[in-house]
Amino acid sequence: MLFYGLFLALQAILVHSAALRQSSSSLTTAAREKCQTDLQCPPGTLIVSHAAHPLSNFTSLQAAISSLPNDNSSQTILLLSGSYNEQVNITRSGPITLLGQQPDRSALTDAARNTVNLTFAGANQDSTGTIDNVWYSVLIVAPTLDASLTGSGTTGYPVPADTPFGNTNFRVYNIDFRNTFSEYSAGPAHAISFSRSNGGFYYCGFYSYQDTIYIGKLGSAYMYKSILAGQTDFLYGFGTLYVQSSEILLRSCGGGITAWKGTNTSVPNNYGVYIHDSTVRAANTSIAPDIKESCALGRPWNALHRSIFANTYEDGSIEPSGYINWEDRWTANETLMAEYKAYGPGFNLTGREDSEVSVLLDSKEYARYSDPERVFLFSDGRVGNVAWIDWEVVNS
Ligand SMILES: *[C@@H]1O[C@H](CO)[C@@H](O)[C@H](O)[C@H]1NC(C)=O
Ligand SMILES: *[C@@H]1O[C@H](CO)[C@@H](O)[C@H](O)[C@H]1NC(C)=O
Ligand SMILES: *[C@@H]1O[C@H](CO)[C@@H](O)[C@H](O)[C@H]1NC(C)=O
Ligand SMILES: *[C@@H]1O[C@H](CO)[C@@H](O)[C@H](O)[C@H]1NC(C)=O
Ligand SMILES: *[C@@H]1O[C@H](CO)[C@@H](O)[C@H](O)[C@H]1NC(C)=O
Ligand SMILES: *[C@@H]1O[C@H](CO)[C@@H](O)[C@H](O)[C@H]1NC(C)=O
Ligand SMILES: *[C@@H]1O[C@H](CO)[C@@H](O)[C@H](O)[C@H]1NC(C)=O
Ligand SMILES: *[C@@H]1O[C@H](CO)[C@@H](O)[C@H](O)[C@H]1NC(C)=O
Repeated sequence: MLFYGLFLALQAILVHSAALRQSSSSLTTAAREKCQTDLQCPPGTLIVSHAAHPLSNFTSLQAAISSLPNDNSSQTILLLSGSYNEQVNITRSGPITLLGQQPDRSALTDAARNTVNLTFAGANQDSTGTIDNVWYSVLIVAPTLDASLTGSGTTGYPVPADTPFGNTNFRVYNIDFRNTFSEYSAGPAHAISFSRSNGGFYYCGFYSYQDTIYIGKLGSAYMYKSILAGQTDFLYGFGTLYVQSSEILLRSCGGGITAWKGTNTSVPNNYGVYIHDSTVRAANTSIAPDIKESCALGRPWNALHRSIFANTYEDGSIEPSGYINWEDRWTANETLMAEYKAYGPGFNLTGREDSEVSVLLDSKEYARYSDPERVFLFSDGRVGNVAWIDWEVVNS
């Protein structure tokens, strides 16, 4: 009896926490997969295809985005298989779900088999600091131009305080974002630029060489079972990025994998990049010997850089020291360039211990960063700003 009572109480707690984790205004996995594989989509779904197709509403994603009402309604757009060569800029605040067609149901959870590319070729080669990196991004999600600017200096572009928040619930499934400017680092060449918005990316690919993924100020992004490919500082920004069960592909080395700029705020923040249960490896076997022990896990873009590789496999491409310094910006007690239970040939314990900048966290220090609910904060510093994450996918 006592046990049964305990069981009911436990069950109530579990049901309650499951309810808390339920996502607002989203497709169920079953409805989404039906749309992606059988093209049987919820009413109102817009379909994009540049090849003639009886279901098609638009020939470019930007045209579909521009047709959406500027309100808080939830909108879904399906891109049929193919490569779309366009730069896409999304300023709308209402929830948006972008789906990539995947005719093969068994490939829906494998980003390496995606059938939809969004491509754009551009890199910022301006050395005077007058042209911003945002102009060279495949996808831009931000409420205004100001909100999307990287800027320069220790604190970056001073986004005006009265700038509104952007997209509250942005979701993408099975789409690859490719900046195809060059086959090596030739200046900042974003695959995505994501600021002042909340977004989840599931089974997506992000391919470029330099500065592939930019999470700007007040950007909160969650990436799940995705592929993140690059060479130089390719996970960078000011916001918060949580990477779960993904593949980080090294196409060469330069700078570091992560290059974050933190911001001092009156309440504690968690700005930084957190990589969990993932794999870091050479993009292919041809490049592997060239980059052996040469790629740094990260370097501090400013002293408030924060990054953690947790429970993550590292192949032999990683430098013995793990992280490296950058123009002496590393500052004791401010910079956090860490690992937690990282493993594999790239994890050289002696090298890490010899390093003055790499940190190995214990479970107590790691706890604060161990779960999206602890990492994603509301603007007043409270934990649990995660209603925009697709928990049905993540908990499956
Ligand atoms: C999209 O195109 C289909 C096929 O022509 C049409 O039935 C549907 O109403 C269109 N949807 C919208 C929102 O215009
Ligand atoms: C969307 O909702 C927010 C908060 O509920 C509200 O402040 C805002 O005015 C709404 N935006 C539009 C375009 O209706
Ligand atoms: C997407 O781009 C990759 C890399 O260029 C290419 O291999 C793939 O075939 C493209 N997919 C489609 C559907 O065009
Ligand atoms: C994105 O669209 C907004 C609104 O039209 C515009 O102000 C901004 O300049 C655009 N950003 C880019 C990088 O094109
Ligand atoms: C291996 O990856 C590098 C870097 O992306 C690329 O330049 C090269 O073409 C790839 N080689 C093969 C055989 O795929
Ligand atoms: C953050 O605050 C510390 C301590 O006041 C200061 O030394 C540092 O320069 C500030 N960093 C930034 C990026 O504002
Ligand atoms: C860093 O913090 C530790 C513990 O709080 C303290 O002992 C040490 O003096 C601090 N170092 C610097 C450079 O502030
Ligand atoms: C580990 O790093 C140290 C330098 O700190 C180096 O001497 C040693 O060769 C490295 N071991 C391996 C297996 O790479």
